[in-house]
Amino acid sequence: MIPLIKSTFYRERQTKQALAKFILGADKLSIGAQCKKFEQKFSGVQKRKHCVFVNSGSSANLALVQALLNLGRIKKGDSVGFSALTWSTNVMPLLELGLHPVPIDVELDTLNVSSRTLTNVLSKHKLSMLFLTNLLGFCDDPDEIQKLCRESGTLFVEDNCESLGTVYKGRLLGNWGAASTFSFYVGHHMSTVEGGAVVTDSDTIETMLQMVRAHGWDRNLTEEKQLKIRLKHRVNSSFYSRYTFYDLGYNLRTTEIQGFLGNTQLQYLPEIVGKRERNFFYFAKHIYRQSDRYYPVRFDHLDVVSNFAVPVICRTKTIRDELVKKCDGIVEIRPIVGGDMTAQPFFKKHADGGLDSWKSSNARLIHEQGLYFGNNPELTKKEMDTIIKLFT
Ligand SMILES: Cc1ncc(COP(=O)(O)O)c(C=O)c1O
Repeated sequence: MIPLIKSTFYRERQTKQALAKFILGADKLSIGAQCKKFEQKFSGVQKRKHCVFVNSGSSANLALVQALLNLGRIKKGDSVGFSALTWSTNVMPLLELGLHPVPIDVELDTLNVSSRTLTNVLSKHKLSMLFLTNLLGFCDDPDEIQKLCRESGTLFVEDNCESLGTVYKGRLLGNWGAASTFSFYVGHHMSTVEGGAVVTDSDTIETMLQMVRAHGWDRNLTEEKQLKIRLKHRVNSSFYSRYTFYDLGYNLRTTEIQGFLGNTQLQYLPEIVGKRERNFFYFAKHIYRQSDRYYPVRFDHLDVVSNFAVPVICRTKTIRDELVKKCDGIVEIRPIVGGDMTAQPFFKKHADGGLDSWKSSNARLIHEQGLYFGNNPELTKKEMDTIIKLFT
């Protein structure tokens, strides 16, 4: 059986050996120098000013939405657009934090929201924010989406948990909005077992995220920032200052173990992205040309395609169901990400009305006729050819 995820880490043995040595020698394993070092390195790799490291991609999404609420950049009850085809914990924080999620359909050929599908929604709704998902290492036209958001006064942020390393028009995905989130869960581009991050160029968003990540207090801020916030709130007793809680937060902190893993894995990232891109092109060349069986996937507008799975959207449900049977016991497959969010029980229960139109959306078609298999950097040629044979 060719699994969706082949290993916990790239260069697993080396990484585990280095981790064991690190743990034996470490004085402290709660958030500290390794996490800080990772934040600095990751913001450099992503070409952003700041990175706030948290314990999962879902936590990154929650922290970002809470930080924007704390800062008054969005308000409870506001409408927020999101990609209808995404992962549950992209949209869940919107519902949990009292926002009104508005689904936006995706294009069939890029699997992503485009300026066209966004325009449709903007013609009917005033959106305070767009939380765009860059799905499976692809995107449509984030430059045009950025323009539309500017013109309509919509705050634009990205969930880039599936697209670390993809480049569009010379710019990394995750760098088109005011902030973006990442996941370092096993099987994603790089793994810290569990882990995530928010990156931004905004000092204000970074500071708020550091408080949201840890109880709403100021302990993980720089001394300069601590002084500023303590002055503002007239906290001048060192007895109370360590236990003053300035805004709404959680405990979403990472450990030094995740920090160390992040620093170890980050050095392999170019190699991981390169291998996955080569694999993807090989699969695409053979599988996507079966145009009578599958809808085409467009990626020639991307400078770098960085994905961890290969999506296949079948022309009919019958073709998809036959593939599910054919793959059984040979290659592990699954639905496309979390599918159409509006078809999920949690969305039906917690989001209000107007969803019947979604039965004819592209997101629904992809939900019902799509599947994906893993694109691991450790796939062998033999394994790739086995997969191709099943799909062609
Ligand atoms: C688009 C998207 N957002 C958020 C997440 C959540 O990341 P994590 O599993 O690290 O919580 C995922 C997970 O796969 C995802 O695909």
